[in-house]
Amino acid sequence: MEGFDPRTSFGSEISKRYDAGGGLGDEAETVAVGTGRIALPLTRAGVRVDGIELSQDMVDRMREKPGGDAIDVTMGDMSRVTTGCRYGLVYLVFNTIGNLLTQDDQVRCFQNAARHLAPGGVFVVECRIPAAPERPYRQFVDAEQVAADAVTLGVGQYDPVTQVLDLNHVSISADGILLMPISLRLAHPPEFDLMARIAGLRLRDRWGGWNAEPYTATSWRHISVYEPAGE
Ligand SMILES: C[S@@+](CC[C@H](N)C(=O)[O-])C[C@H]1O[C@@H](n2cnc3c(N)ncnc32)[C@H](O)[C@@H]1O
Repeated sequence: MEGFDPRTSFGSEISKRYDAGGGLGDEAETVAVGTGRIALPLTRAGVRVDGIELSQDMVDRMREKPGGDAIDVTMGDMSRVTTGCRYGLVYLVFNTIGNLLTQDDQVRCFQNAARHLAPGGVFVVECRIPAAPERPYRQFVDAEQVAADAVTLGVGQYDPVTQVLDLNHVSISADGILLMPISLRLAHPPEFDLMARIAGLRLRDRWGGWNAEPYTATSWRHISVYEPAGE
């Protein structure tokens, strides 16, 4: 998307609104970093959590919360940087794999996750099933929120060549217009499975939700669990 900077997608203004509007309401079942939506409940449950994050603003929001200081964050690109440790669980939830905008970078991210796994460890990816390719002319304007004094529109355009969806959430109210742009590279689960294979991983489980709902033709998201292929 012209004028798009991934850092501003999760920059100061968006990071402040992230917890109010960005959640799926399933955090209790799912208990990387962001504002600590998942990392903080995991820490409270006694799990040590380290994170990798690109946006200082998102880390700052997390640090403001109770327990937010307990999480070690390595600043950098999740497809490249290392924390220097190995883990029983590496997770990338809430469509975060899509924040990497090329297939190469997504493969590199699987390889980086694999490098961080301890023996017996797993890599968990949660991602929506792509829907934009099926929209007429691969573009749309969705009414995301409609109230008497404000509306939020989701304005999207999908490029099948790059598999990148450019999406702008446009909030219009008496306070003015707020643009919340994001670009995401969309991929179906079998493409992720091949990325996993390139990274020396294999699919262990796939569910349609955090309560182990079966993954079916009507699932709108998948939760995929990968393990080292050699184990
Ligand atoms: C959709 S949010 C998910 C945050 C959190 N895991 C959650 O579930 O609420 C994606 C996060 O990944 C970060 N991010 C995006 N691209 C990144 C990259 N290349 N390397 C590291 N972090 C990245 C964003 O700044 C943002 O905090």
